[in-house]
Amino acid sequence: MSAPIMEAVGLRKHFVTRRPLFGAPTVVRAVDGIDLRIAQGETFAIVGESGCGKSTLARLLIRLLDPTEGSVLYGGRDIAALPREEMRRLRSDLQFVFQDPFSSLNPRMTVGALVEEPMRAHEIGDPAQRRAQVGRLLERVGLRPDFANRYPHEFSGGQRQRIGIARALATGPKLLIGDEPVSALDVSVQAQVINLLEDLKEEFGLTLIVIAHDLAVVRHMSDRVGVMYLGELVEVAEAEALFEGPQHPYSRALLGAIPAPDPSRRGQAPAALTGDLPSPSAPPPGCRFHTRCPFATDRCAAERPVLRDAGRGRQVACHHFESIGAGPGLPPPPARAPHVERRFALYRARSARAATTGATTRETTQQEV
Ligand SMILES: Nc1ncnc2c1ncn2[C@@H]1O[C@H](COP(=O)(O)OP(=O)(O)OP(=O)(O)O)[C@@H](O)[C@H]1O
Ligand code: SF4
Ligand SMILES: [Mg+2]
Repeated sequence: MSAPIMEAVGLRKHFVTRRPLFGAPTVVRAVDGIDLRIAQGETFAIVGESGCGKSTLARLLIRLLDPTEGSVLYGGRDIAALPREEMRRLRSDLQFVFQDPFSSLNPRMTVGALVEEPMRAHEIGDPAQRRAQVGRLLERVGLRPDFANRYPHEFSGGQRQRIGIARALATGPKLLIGDEPVSALDVSVQAQVINLLEDLKEEFGLTLIVIAHDLAVVRHMSDRVGVMYLGELVEVAEAEALFEGPQHPYSRALLGAIPAPDPSRRGQAPAALTGDLPSPSAPPPGCRFHTRCPFATDRCAAERPVLRDAGRGRQVACHHFESIGAGPGLPPPPARAPHVERRFALYRARSARAATTGATTRETTQQEV
């Protein structure tokens, strides 16, 4: 793996919630001991059931939240210990694309003011330069520059998400985190926004961290995937390797929960998840998945498994993954359109070159949205 742009070390976030009146405080272990390295230029996806801590992890990574324990290193430096001026610079390097394009844009601000705001906050350019940049950014995300004078409510969900993306790009970030960036959009619009994110990533040499429920989106977009369960990472693998043969019993079940498109393979899918996700305020001892795992042994209930190297860049947190073996995985995805395939091939070749020369992948490609 090339030098990480970002690293999480022993990261924990515990929320203490208090019931009204005399209730005892409850500690929610939303993120509970995560170690992770994100490589420069990659798209890393985080998947897992609702409530497993994906959004909390994303917010910790860009310091929208401070950890209870552990640290986040950006460019090798602990972001919690950065002096004020460097923290400001960090804020322009790391940007967030929110899930809900309806509530994340202030309805009283024009689109132009919304996209300009981060530039003003970071004192980038003078007013005329910023206005010109707003026009360029709107065009780049597939909107007309004169939309700058309108208000968010005049736009569709997809257009609003494009405005949110233009706003996130305004400070020239190096790393973009999308928390379910397309899940609030109509299916027909999702692919356009995903294509846009991929083009922008290529054009601006961005690193992307994407949280997505839709595993088809994850498979399409990401280079690597981290599977989370109850605040922990249970498997980290290259996307294709994970989808072809998930190793951790939870990953097997998560992938098995997707209906297989090929009817002849449906019977081979592993049993989909059964039972509810245990509460993150009282996680099971030992392996947190043991209450739902078909392979659990006595050891699993007593001893917490750590992420271990499973070969070819894969890590798995399971005592028995060697003897359990990989799950059947999913059939290959439908072939991409030839022009999209060419773009991917070009990008991967450029990424490989950049990894060896240290150059960034800053080149414009055709826009297909
Ligand atoms: N500010 C908070 N105070 C108390 N508990 C919180 C807070 N934020 C998150 N949690 C709890 O932490 C756990 C993880 O929440 P988080 O939002 O990170 O999950 P998620 O994986 O993003 O879920 P989803 O897929 O539904 O968005 C949940 O049990 C949630 O209720
Ligand atoms: S450690 Fe045990 S309970 Fe946990 S996933 Fe592996 S087999 Fe299942
Ligand atoms: Mg979330």
